[in-house]
Amino acid sequence: MSEERKKTTLGTLFSKMNKGIPITMLTCYDYPTAYFMEQAGIDMLLVGDSLGMTILGYDSTLPVTMDIMIPHAQAVRRGSPNAWLIGDMPYMTYQPSVETAIRSAGRFMAEAACDAVKLEGGAEVADRMAAVVRMGIPVMGHLGLTPQSASALGGFRVQGRSAAQAKKIINDAKALEEAGAFAILLEMVPNRVCQMITERATVPIISLGSGPHADGQLLIFHDMFGLYPKFTPKMARVYGNAGQVILDGIKQYVEDVTTLDFPQRENWFTMKDEAYAELKALLEEE
Ligand code: KIV
Repeated sequence: MSEERKKTTLGTLFSKMNKGIPITMLTCYDYPTAYFMEQAGIDMLLVGDSLGMTILGYDSTLPVTMDIMIPHAQAVRRGSPNAWLIGDMPYMTYQPSVETAIRSAGRFMAEAACDAVKLEGGAEVADRMAAVVRMGIPVMGHLGLTPQSASALGGFRVQGRSAAQAKKIINDAKALEEAGAFAILLEMVPNRVCQMITERATVPIISLGSGPHADGQLLIFHDMFGLYPKFTPKMARVYGNAGQVILDGIKQYVEDVTTLDFPQRENWFTMKDEAYAELKALLEEE
């Protein structure tokens, strides 16, 4: 199954943007999934703090820490050596100060061999983004629905529907570009606003539920395969119901064990007759 692929670089991403070839991006949190994504040729992988919800079952991303993120980022890197790997900075790992931002970003690079980090917010985080970029770490911006601020934004809902809100997002995108963002993710922003930002930007704009007029698309892996039991958001396309396959398989296993259908001869290991006889003799000697 293994296929040779070249390492994705910033050059690859900008070249795709300039040629109008859409950039592909998915969230990823573990080794086997990263392995398959590597084989499929995904450009960018995001080890999102969404793992707090998709993997750990929290109701929000806020309880996620760097110590939780790092082992996941390491596993993804082991599975995908060549995708452009982005570590998502968890809540309060960049908000407090420039120093916390640089230290957290540095951990993703040094401990998990990430290529870049992502942080949420607009002009208000531009100084921290600029400082991390100055340290030689590429940073992706994230505007629109920024889940770490879901409470202030009125929940997990579309952002930028009014002209004033949309203008703020457009200004924030400019501020992030000026701070040195290598790309900006727009989550749940109206398609026309996304298109305006894409037309104005000189860095790749990635859409998550923000329409087709962007330089690339992102989906949350668990939404694509029916693996998030609580709900499937409108912005996701479902490519298969792995959740149902897993549930059916587990039910069948319960049935097979209960009815003594599992295990069968091919599922266990044997001992040669001589060794068995010797063992019995040894036990009889006691
Ligand atoms: O954590 C994450 O996966 C994200 C996406 C929602 C963009 O930030």
